[in-house]
Amino acid sequence: MDRVGVIGCGKMGFKHMDCFRRIPGVKVVGVFDTNTQKCNECGGVKHYDTVADLFKDCDIVDICTPTNTHKDYIMEGIKLKKAIFVEKPLCRTMEEANAILKEAKKKKAKIMVGHILRYFNQYANIKRLVDTKAAGKPCVVRISRVNGFRRGSNNWFSSLEKSGGVILDLMIHDIDFLMWCFGDVERVYAMNLMSKGVQNTDYALAVLRFKNGVIAHLEASWAHYSGFRTSVEMACDKGLISYDSRNPNTLAVEFAGGRNFKDSPVDENATLVELKDFINYTRSGKIPKLDIDDAYGCLEVSLAALESTKTGKVVTIKKANSKLKYK
Ligand SMILES: NC(=O)c1ccc[n+]([C@@H]2O[C@H](COP(=O)([O-])OP(=O)(O)OC[C@H]3O[C@@H](n4cnc5c(N)ncnc54)[C@H](O)[C@@H]3O)[C@@H](O)[C@H]2O)c1
Repeated sequence: MDRVGVIGCGKMGFKHMDCFRRIPGVKVVGVFDTNTQKCNECGGVKHYDTVADLFKDCDIVDICTPTNTHKDYIMEGIKLKKAIFVEKPLCRTMEEANAILKEAKKKKAKIMVGHILRYFNQYANIKRLVDTKAAGKPCVVRISRVNGFRRGSNNWFSSLEKSGGVILDLMIHDIDFLMWCFGDVERVYAMNLMSKGVQNTDYALAVLRFKNGVIAHLEASWAHYSGFRTSVEMACDKGLISYDSRNPNTLAVEFAGGRNFKDSPVDENATLVELKDFINYTRSGKIPKLDIDDAYGCLEVSLAALESTKTGKVVTIKKANSKLKYK
């Protein structure tokens, strides 16, 4: 039996617990949260008074706490030889990411970061269309992810230092997805509200130039209170790939001359599929769809976008995103 300990019982911790319970051979042994009231809301699972006691009782630790707290729990997990699932982003700063990567490499730790788009059928299908050149060579991309602002526990999302704003919360998903499709990013230019001192909401636009020449325009918003939605438009030299979550079962490719390709991926619980991939990794060693280098590279580009919002300048990614290869 794989024994999982969940740290942080907010939105994601609760969701993960539900998913882990559905994976055969996995048991959620208990939870730890600095707000004991949150533990009480979990019901039917042991509450630990200290995280040290939770670590003693589990083989796998699942970190679902605010972003600025990830690093300390990851380092403790590596020290105690636990397999680690941590929600995205890997951590809040590159200094933290460098420390994690160094230690993880030394100890050959098994760590996976929750970049969940790779587990959504719609996005995985777009990636397949890119890989097979179904619509030809991708040139220009427009991608969007919008929602209303969420306070989270103690309004932590409103603190740029803790959350990184909408760029590290929402845009990072699309950055990971695009890097999965196209590889390393060369330059980034971005603008947002939070870096200008606007509070309790954020809205960001970024332009990424990939080493393969693709240009992508990314939109991420916490100012869309009408609800969560995402979309992708990928203009390729032989067709346009598009997806809009308002019509979740249709992924389309439009070709000149009116020939259309349509796909109807069955909706699955992407978090469950993601956590199954992680558990399989802990059991068999088979690298999941996403490794720690991917998460590191994605954080590097996301933080470069955040830097650009502060300086108003284009940021060139100096390190190749994949210099510190883990495998
Ligand atoms: N993959 C996704 O789609 C997705 C979606 C939302 C959030 N996230 C990520 O998940 C993580 C958690 O976000 P959330 O929305 O669940 O936040 P949340 O505010 O809903 O929950 C966080 C929980 O952590 C607890 N907590 C705070 N500091 C702690 C500490 N030091 N130690 C232990 N517990 C602590 C809080 O009391 C709260 O219960 C973040 O890193 C966020 O970026 C991922």
